[in-house]
Amino acid sequence: MSDKPAVLVARKVFPEVVQRLAQHFEVEDNPEDHIHSPEELTARLQGKAGAFVTLSERIDAALLDAHPQLRAVCNMAVGYNNIDVAACSARGVLVSNTPDVLTETTADFGFALMMATARRITESERFLREGRWDRWAYDMFAGSDIHGATLGILGMGRIGQGIARRGALGFGMKVVYHNRSRLPAEQEAPLGARYVDKETLLRESDHLVVVVPYAPATHHSIGAAELARMKPTATLTNIARGGVVDDAALAQALREGRIAAAGLDVFEGEPRVHPALLALRNVVLTPHIASATVATRRAMADLAADNLIAALTGGVPPTPVNP
Ligand code: DGY
Repeated sequence: MSDKPAVLVARKVFPEVVQRLAQHFEVEDNPEDHIHSPEELTARLQGKAGAFVTLSERIDAALLDAHPQLRAVCNMAVGYNNIDVAACSARGVLVSNTPDVLTETTADFGFALMMATARRITESERFLREGRWDRWAYDMFAGSDIHGATLGILGMGRIGQGIARRGALGFGMKVVYHNRSRLPAEQEAPLGARYVDKETLLRESDHLVVVVPYAPATHHSIGAAELARMKPTATLTNIARGGVVDDAALAQALREGRIAAAGLDVFEGEPRVHPALLALRNVVLTPHIASATVATRRAMADLAADNLIAALTGGVPPTPVNP
């Protein structure tokens, strides 16, 4: 029997990263990429000292109680709402995430999704592919401008600031934002970013991008009441988490033309998508891919592995959530 600690790699990841983990641990991995039910996950964690997980694994108090030997849960994501961090801390289990390495890639995608939404790119592509394009027309797929428009950002963390930078410096957008706390003046100044209350953010934004982490306090931060305060010409982009936006209320607002369009990379209950959203033409839908470039996903996997190795070999995990 090996004296290496045993770990679970819960989803399929880069083989090179699994090989690196295997230098330190007895690794049980998941090359067939099976999505585990809570019962299956509990069974597979038998005897494991650590877990390399993704947002598809829920780590809660019941699972932790079934595995008192578990010492580290390393998430391959910056968001960690799939993990009950308080329950982990109470049991001395280290939790880590993967900040920074995905900031610019995710900001690129958030900006691209906002542009695709405002300029109706996927809707017009569908029209062309369906063989319906037979003439030029002055109002065909006329959308709204990005340059010079007001970019609203809900949640001005690292990714929010990356989107603000792209808007202000690349496209001459006016930036307004709302966040738990105001940025220091030296961070606001180069972006010309104006800190506003949520009401003003909703009222002034031409393009509102939601980048706030999911927590009970941010559940349905954008619902029917908030959508009613937005401009009828506005777009909404969500790259944060499903649940921060009330998808049913959003579908109704889009259907009734209370806002112009939405771009969504995340959904309540994903991978299920609210059927009312699927039925709408003025919404761009992508399958939670904001951080999905090969280089960034590799950097995320490497960082999650670094955390797991450090946590179980007496090192200092680089990005703990509950140090
Ligand atoms: C994150 O890192 O939180 C992303 O949503 C996962 O790709």
